[in-house]
Amino acid sequence: MTDLASLNAQALAAIDAAASLDALEAVRIETLGKQGSVTALLKSLGQMSPEERQTQGPAINGLREAVTSAIAAKKDALESAALNARLATERLDMTLPAPDAAAGSVHPVSQVMDELAEIFADMGFAVAEGPEVEDDWHNFTALNIPETHPARAMHDTFYFPEEAAVDGKRMLLRTHTSPVQIRTMLSQKPPIRVIAPGRVYRSDSDATHTPMFHQIEGLVIDKGIHMGHLKWTLETFLKAFFERDDVVLRLRPSYFPFTEPSAEVDVGYTLVNGKRVIGGSEGWMEVLGSGMVHPRVIAACGLDPNEYQGFAFGTGVDRLAMLKYGMDDLRAFFDGDLRWLKHYGFAALDIPTLSGGVGA
Ligand code: DAH
Repeated sequence: MTDLASLNAQALAAIDAAASLDALEAVRIETLGKQGSVTALLKSLGQMSPEERQTQGPAINGLREAVTSAIAAKKDALESAALNARLATERLDMTLPAPDAAAGSVHPVSQVMDELAEIFADMGFAVAEGPEVEDDWHNFTALNIPETHPARAMHDTFYFPEEAAVDGKRMLLRTHTSPVQIRTMLSQKPPIRVIAPGRVYRSDSDATHTPMFHQIEGLVIDKGIHMGHLKWTLETFLKAFFERDDVVLRLRPSYFPFTEPSAEVDVGYTLVNGKRVIGGSEGWMEVLGSGMVHPRVIAACGLDPNEYQGFAFGTGVDRLAMLKYGMDDLRAFFDGDLRWLKHYGFAALDIPTLSGGVGA
């Protein structure tokens, strides 16, 4: 018994004296390790008679518990002492001058896309996405543009070689965001309310065309949808986007294969010191294509056009940015010229909100 008591006292003294985590670990190995003194006692239980074991067992186990918890407590104490010592050496001198303000800026295209997402989220639209490498069927056929349709030629499509066909489908760089309509109708049940912003590609380049540009698509599919819903949605959107209540819309009959009837949407402008300012109706600028989703498109997505109707619209994000923020050459959007980015870019904290004015 005295053996146990003195071993206990010895172990606790060693634990108490351990001045570092390493020293504590050494004590742990000496007592509780494989060859440790406490472990040896525990092993000796096996050789004892049952009566002996009855008295010695609890005593030895008690010793093991006392040593284990003393080690754990000491470990905590040593660790927090080490942390405190480290914290005492790590100081931040708040009197030092702040680093230079962040030099980057948010590209107008990203800013406008954020503004659009904010405006449409408020009207209950989710953001949908689709691939930029698209197949023929989603980009054209399902949108009621069959192989022989002249609209295919109008799109100046970048095709992948025939040999790169996937499952017999010719691949291409999507020429518009409209295929996201198809993907959304195939993967979600109505009611559907989505916008799909993203990159699109056409083989075309001048001051107002670049081979890659950005569009945003809108799609609503539900029962009993009519053109009044389309007009209200576009009017609400354009007023919020241009941050003016006097935005006037003009819907002109037009043609798109995937909508029937189709309308092009113009916004009115006023000339102020020879510059076009959105608002009023002195002149008109085309901003959107739109219409009621063609029954064939609805049917191509496996929905019954007698049950579901919808409207769709599409527009160029870069063009919207140019109209709102006054740039005149689209090519500059993609030149990566720092002077342009500094001039037209937005600070990272200029997050568009409806309450702050979207473009604040
Ligand atoms: N996809 C058309 C284009 O790239 C734009 C467009 C027009 C989209 C009418 C639509 C729409 O959804 O209804 O020129």
